[in-house]
Amino acid sequence: MSLDDAATKPHEALARLLQQELAAVNGLIQERMASQHAPRIPEVTAHLVGAGGKRLRPMLTLAAARLCGYDGPYHVHLAATVEFIHTATLLHDDVVDESRQRRGRPTANLLWDNKSSVLVGDYLFSRSFQLMTETGNIDVLRILSNASATIAEGEVLQLTAATDLRTDESIYLQVVRGKTAALFSAATEVGGVIAGADPAHVQALFDYGDALGIAFQIADDLLDYQGDSKTTGKNVGDDFRERKLTLPVIKAVAQATGDERAFWVRTIEKGKQADGDLDRALAIMDKYDTLRATRADAMAWADKAKTAIATLPEHEIRTLLGDIADYVVARLA
Ligand code: IPE
Ligand code: IPE
Ligand code: MG
Ligand code: MG
Repeated sequence: MSLDDAATKPHEALARLLQQELAAVNGLIQERMASQHAPRIPEVTAHLVGAGGKRLRPMLTLAAARLCGYDGPYHVHLAATVEFIHTATLLHDDVVDESRQRRGRPTANLLWDNKSSVLVGDYLFSRSFQLMTETGNIDVLRILSNASATIAEGEVLQLTAATDLRTDESIYLQVVRGKTAALFSAATEVGGVIAGADPAHVQALFDYGDALGIAFQIADDLLDYQGDSKTTGKNVGDDFRERKLTLPVIKAVAQATGDERAFWVRTIEKGKQADGDLDRALAIMDKYDTLRATRADAMAWADKAKTAIATLPEHEIRTLLGDIADYVVARLA
């Protein structure tokens, strides 16, 4: 691994540093995603878990715990809990979004059916709750169960907000904070809590996760329009086809001429799309330079994440967390 790679992929550097604990997390995931009674469960979970994923959220939990000097065993349970919650939400999200590709593979809803994705997602949610109770720590139960409710709330809010042209940047932020940032902030917060860190440090970890999660989702929404499906493992233009108002479009709607507004009403609000509409949407966004403005917003959130952890003690892991904040937006350059 060259220095250059280490500099551009900090989550891989963090994975190396946390190698042993991450192996324990993966072992626990393998063990708990199984089911002796319903063969469909291991089929679906093996398909999705076997496709990998960055394991970013569980790494954040392990990193936060280690940064706060934790030397017990339960950060591994918490990290696995966080990845189970993430995996369950992906199964449900791909049904809701009618997505066909995830982690570079066909989605479970495409390979099996919606019923399997919904029920296996429920199973994984339940398994995540079992795992977190094993820590015996009521504070982490509270944080992670609150996060689960907030994620669901964010996804449901998006159902109505996403096709409504009145959705502005503040509602978008509320959706993103719920559906994505809530799990990032819970992931970092529980790492600090299980380590018994002082409240100011726990707050700093929460703030870091919150801002990182927002930067991450804004970046994801931008990549939906300017990404390469080979590297994202998802299809380009999905959000537009799904009639999902995300930040680049919200910024274009806010400046739209009469004609452009009619275009957004037809394609997003009414969902009447024809060949060439994605290109027209991209041309309008280009006219107002909204992809660049969206990138700038993502970068500002990444900076907030870095500022939040500046109050934590100096540590190799703190540096890597700062690099991760840079990295989630660097892939947009
Ligand atoms: C995908 O998250 C869901 C979003 C919040 C955009 P990741 O990009 O972290 O997914 P995996 O786990 O690496 O596949
Ligand atoms: C990700 O949301 C799923 C959750 C955060 C629950 P999106 O629908 O925006 O993300 P992708 O593009 O499918 O990964
Ligand atoms: Mg989706
Ligand atoms: Mg979605």
